[in-house]
Amino acid sequence: MKNFLSVKDIGDLRVAVEEARQVKRDRFAFSELGRNRTMVMLFFNSSLRTRLSTQKAAMNLGMNTMVLDVAQGAWKLETERGVIMDGDKPEHLLEAIPVIGSYCDIIGVRSFAGLVDREADYGELVINQFVAHSGRPVVSLESATRHPLQSFADLITIEEYKTKQRPKVVLTWAPHPRALPQAVPNSFAEWMRAADYDFVITHPRGYELAPEFVGDARVEYDQRKALEGADFVYAKNWSSLGDYGQILSTDRSWTVDAQKMALTDDAFFMHCLPVRRGMIVTDEVIESPHSIVIPQAANREISAQVVLKRMLEKL
Ligand code: CP
Repeated sequence: MKNFLSVKDIGDLRVAVEEARQVKRDRFAFSELGRNRTMVMLFFNSSLRTRLSTQKAAMNLGMNTMVLDVAQGAWKLETERGVIMDGDKPEHLLEAIPVIGSYCDIIGVRSFAGLVDREADYGELVINQFVAHSGRPVVSLESATRHPLQSFADLITIEEYKTKQRPKVVLTWAPHPRALPQAVPNSFAEWMRAADYDFVITHPRGYELAPEFVGDARVEYDQRKALEGADFVYAKNWSSLGDYGQILSTDRSWTVDAQKMALTDDAFFMHCLPVRRGMIVTDEVIESPHSIVIPQAANREISAQVVLKRMLEKL
């Protein structure tokens, strides 16, 4: 695997899930693969799970890891070409990227959508520059439009918990006080469609995701109707794509509560975390035996390890 930026880079999902099972059975079986190899992880935005799980996965493979928080302790980076750099950013990505590449074998990058310029965000301005100029395989640790390590972990989790060959998976928008990117729902939709589940997206009008991610998935504006018979409920907030980056609603009638879960077929509750209780989901639901948010987060180590293992095998 050269880069890991979207579902397209993983190939056959059944093979990938089987590889995940193999890694999970013995996560130290490939601890020689990464000997004397180094991964740099670069964070333009905060993280708990991605940072720790990816670092752990790299260490399981015997790699050295270096983590740089761009906002803390590194020079502020200019990302656009052609600007006069007379502001507060003393270094340009175009120098920083090859320098970072010279210190490592694999680069991980987290760079969220700015939610101001839709064209720049959906053009993946930052991560594409790493692909073009680092000379190293690049792992998305969540880019402006996708979070593939999360979606791969979500897929592994659904495969572990499903009791039907083709479960009904519902992605539901839920309220949040701050404007969030569309990366997680975009990516989740892309992976659920590739897995060929019975996949339904529900959200208030105005929160439509980009057609290239929705594809042929069913969109249902009535959340209760969408949840009927669901096997998995995946809650997530996102800001508007049409009215780019805006919060159009904080309607708490969309919060996932026990009454909503009662409409499902005893569904498992999922969320990528961090999650705002009382907004996205009630305490009762997230603490219930059918909440699988913790094993879902634990599978982030496994998805990262499969991806890094494949990259190391190609170095
Ligand atoms: N789900 C996820 O990516 O979590 P972090 O933002 O904490 O890394």
